[in-house]
Amino acid sequence: MTAVSGIMPTGRLTLGNHLGALRRFTDRGGFYFVADLHAMTMRHVPRRLAALTRETATLMLAAGSPPGTVFVQSDVPAHAQLGYLLECTSYVGELSRMIQYKEKGRDRPMTRASLFTYPCLMAADILLYGTDRVPVGDDQDQHVELARDLAIRFNREYGETFVVPQVVKAALATRVRDLATPTAKMSKSDADDAVGTIRLLDPPDVIRRQVMRAVTDSENEVRHDESAKPGVTNLLEILAACTGGDPVQLASGYSGYGALKSDVADAVLSVIEPLQREYAVLASDPATVDELLAHGRDRAIEASAPRLRAAQSAMGLGVSR
Ligand code: TYM
Repeated sequence: MTAVSGIMPTGRLTLGNHLGALRRFTDRGGFYFVADLHAMTMRHVPRRLAALTRETATLMLAAGSPPGTVFVQSDVPAHAQLGYLLECTSYVGELSRMIQYKEKGRDRPMTRASLFTYPCLMAADILLYGTDRVPVGDDQDQHVELARDLAIRFNREYGETFVVPQVVKAALATRVRDLATPTAKMSKSDADDAVGTIRLLDPPDVIRRQVMRAVTDSENEVRHDESAKPGVTNLLEILAACTGGDPVQLASGYSGYGALKSDVADAVLSVIEPLQREYAVLASDPATVDELLAHGRDRAIEASAPRLRAAQSAMGLGVSR
């Protein structure tokens, strides 16, 4: 079975995006896309959306996603088409309970209707490809859960059409925290100069400085303890995710925060610098990027067409003879 996953071009990608999702986009049969339609569910600036779509796509290619797996969501019309069909199978009640809508949209006068129906489009992204695996960070659990519910409901009401998908969790780093506010998730939508966010394309010296300035606590004891020591725990988890170690065991190798931070900075850069080199090569060759994305688009159009047709006909669309 194949994997499917998307990244919204709503900001410059962070270390969290890479460890929780991007670096796991390795399945040869996978479908990995820039979710530009999702990026329009909040107020957006067209020129910035276009620039971030290109940057995100180029990073996805640079991260080593296999040939033909990367594309831009809006280049494959089946996503929006199936999204509408799934809106016709979902209920206002369940969409109102989605955390993202409650936090970013409910009770605000300028909330876009598309923010409310966002989970239907995301379910379409997933269900179109007959995939059973969705590699994402843990903030996407509720969305994948809804995609499962909609697949089960559709199959029951209209006949077996969709594979019921599952979240696949990374072993580590399913939620990388902000370095300045370690109780919050590191987020690409924070201000571009937010001190707690490591951007994948920031210069290495900026990244090192940010790690060295990470908020810890007033003790100097390195211990993995989520509630008492969120800052130190986050650093240990980042270190483990970048080096392949175990965060609890790694703690015993340190007697103070300085050495820990310095090793975290080295480990993060050992992951980010090769990615930046690949990115620079691709970014200097826009024609190749266009070609790779066209290949991904054509493959996605071909792969999604039969399931969209099956869903349309199961729901009674078109004129029968
Ligand atoms: P988005 O764009 O917010 O994030 C992209 C991916 O990065 C993961 N992620 C993190 N993982 C660990 N630590 C963090 N701090 C962190 N921040 C973000 C996210 O979990 C995600 O995997 N709705 C999705 C985009 C989407 C999608 C889909 C995903 C649209 N359609 C279909 C999977 C399948 C989103 O907003 O991701």
